[in-house]
Amino acid sequence: MRAVIQDRYGSAEVVRVGDLPEPVPADDEVLIRVRAASLNGSDRENLAGSPFYARLGGLRRPRHPVPGSDVAGVVAAAGSAVTAFAVGDEVFGELAGYRGGLAEYVATSPRLLARKPSGLSFLDAAAIPQAGCIAYRSTRGIEPGDRVLVNGAGGAGGALIVRLAKHLGAAVTAVDRGDKAEYLLQLGADDTIAFEHEDWADRRDRYDRVIDLVGHRSPFQVHQALRPGGQYLMVGGHARVLLAMFTTGWSIRKQGKRVKVLAVPQSRADLEAVTAAVVNGDATAAVDRTYSLEEAPAGFARLAAGDNLGKILIEIP
Ligand SMILES: NC(=O)c1ccc[n+]([C@@H]2O[C@H](COP(=O)([O-])OP(=O)(O)OC[C@H]3O[C@@H](n4cnc5c(N)ncnc54)[C@H](OP(=O)(O)O)[C@@H]3O)[C@@H](O)[C@H]2O)c1
Repeated sequence: MRAVIQDRYGSAEVVRVGDLPEPVPADDEVLIRVRAASLNGSDRENLAGSPFYARLGGLRRPRHPVPGSDVAGVVAAAGSAVTAFAVGDEVFGELAGYRGGLAEYVATSPRLLARKPSGLSFLDAAAIPQAGCIAYRSTRGIEPGDRVLVNGAGGAGGALIVRLAKHLGAAVTAVDRGDKAEYLLQLGADDTIAFEHEDWADRRDRYDRVIDLVGHRSPFQVHQALRPGGQYLMVGGHARVLLAMFTTGWSIRKQGKRVKVLAVPQSRADLEAVTAAVVNGDATAAVDRTYSLEEAPAGFARLAAGDNLGKILIEIP
């Protein structure tokens, strides 16, 4: 089968397209004929092998040569112990090991897969899983009128967060590179901050919730931007800060403010919930560009340069 291959960490040049044997599903796995996949910020991290958590499954080289965690496709075979899906079912989801999706076929546990709604194309469905589940968890509990800041809103996953927060009635400030401001306003943000020119954490007592996709400030810095009762959720960012959030974030309780790492579980129930919001029109992923499988290295180059506004999609007809 044709597959994207990344067998070492590095820049986008390490990504190529080649031939690999078709995977054989175990008794408890399904084989998916992949029709579409999407790239996330985590694929950029897995390409570089940085921050350190990107190497948890493979210290010196990726443990699986095929990148790609988010897929949509058709069940081509099912192991004897699989009861949830049958050959021909249209499915989508995030792969349990976060890799293997950028290929004509992938074998995976059906545990995290959901049935693709008939009204969604394979491309639309592939854009949802990781970004959608992050958006779903990070926006839960937002109330109408809340002031929400999304740091790193211009990348792969920010659009779903901004749009879900707006749907819940929040006033949203979106932070990213200055040249992404117009895009962020088009997503529905009320206000933007260019991180090169202003540090949002200097805005004191301002936000009911901060959702940080690229955390690099200490717990003590970020809590100052919260209003009483507000919460800061670190979704991604520097490993050093992640450790600080785990070790000291819990201790910040002044004025009911909470500072913590948001661990987003891989969950079929969350995927179904956020997909229902997409189908209802409450939120949509932003699509940057669509590439064929053979063009995937160009997609990785765009992702690695940070030029994507929203999701990069890979179509495998
Ligand atoms: N917590 C969990 O359980 C969990 C689960 C899955 C994934 N994640 C993590 O969640 C993150 C997902 O985000 P994503 O897919 O949307 O990532 P992304 O595509 O990399 O987007 C991040 C955005 O932030 C921008 N940015 C870079 N430096 C910034 C700064 N100093 N201030 C503000 N914005 C800045 C980037 O711009 P440039 O492109 O120009 O750099 C980019 O637009 C990843 O780190 C991933 O590992 C967490």
